[in-house]
Amino acid sequence: MLRVTGLKKQFEADRGASVAAVDNVSFEVETGKLLTLLGPSGCGKTTTLRSIAGLEEPDGGEIQIGSSVVFSATRRFSLPPNRRRVGMVFQSYAIWPHMTVFQNVAYPLEGSGVPKREVRKRVEHVLALVGLEGFIERPAPFLSGGQQQRVALARALDMTGPRVDSQRNLSAPATLCRCGTSSPWMERPAGEYPGAKSISRITVKPSPTLL
Ligand SMILES: Nc1ncnc2c1ncn2[C@@H]1O[C@H](COP(=O)(O)OP(=O)(O)OP(=O)(O)O)[C@@H](O)[C@H]1O
Ligand SMILES: [Mg+2]
Repeated sequence: MLRVTGLKKQFEADRGASVAAVDNVSFEVETGKLLTLLGPSGCGKTTTLRSIAGLEEPDGGEIQIGSSVVFSATRRFSLPPNRRRVGMVFQSYAIWPHMTVFQNVAYPLEGSGVPKREVRKRVEHVLALVGLEGFIERPAPFLSGGQQQRVALARALDMTGPRVDSQRNLSAPATLCRCGTSSPWMERPAGEYPGAKSISRITVKPSPTLL
């Protein structure tokens, strides 16, 4: 379950003016459900996702993932991104050009303290799911646009696997996906993805009128 309550974020805009990128947004996504944020360009979709992942510090509101409050403005509490266990496909993919495909997908897992041997196993698994098993050691810049998109998806799926450092299999609380195109590998049964039945997912789409 993912719950966003009264989320607010302002940015400093040109000449000292400020822009309300997210203004009092609330929603809830139950475990196993998919929610799509739909709205015109600039309405605050990405800022909302970045806030959930911990990459933006909101000015107000509360974010709860599973049973944990990961951000609370009133309590002045913000859990660091690497401790939120949220996968995110970035709008511009955010593939690190100085890394191989393996390193790109492994990086968030390594940052979460997953043991090396387990990292390799999980990375190989998600790369096979998105059809990139033959590209593991390739430098990321030497990929097509679609292949880079799949690396970005694999990196997000990676975070949704069961925790390997725990006695219990804890499922990941949330995956945030921006899936702009449909491809054959997107049409795999949801159950094939790690933790697919036990996560909440959000996609964002521009307003249909702007397509
Ligand atoms: N770092 C920033 N500094 C200043 N303003 C920002 C910053 N990031 C976003 N904004 C502004 O906040 C508003 C919301 O931006 P956001 O990126 O969340 O929109 P979006 O809904 O994802 O749009 P799109 O569909 O074009 O991706 C916009 O007006 C944008 O110009
Ligand atoms: Mg956006």
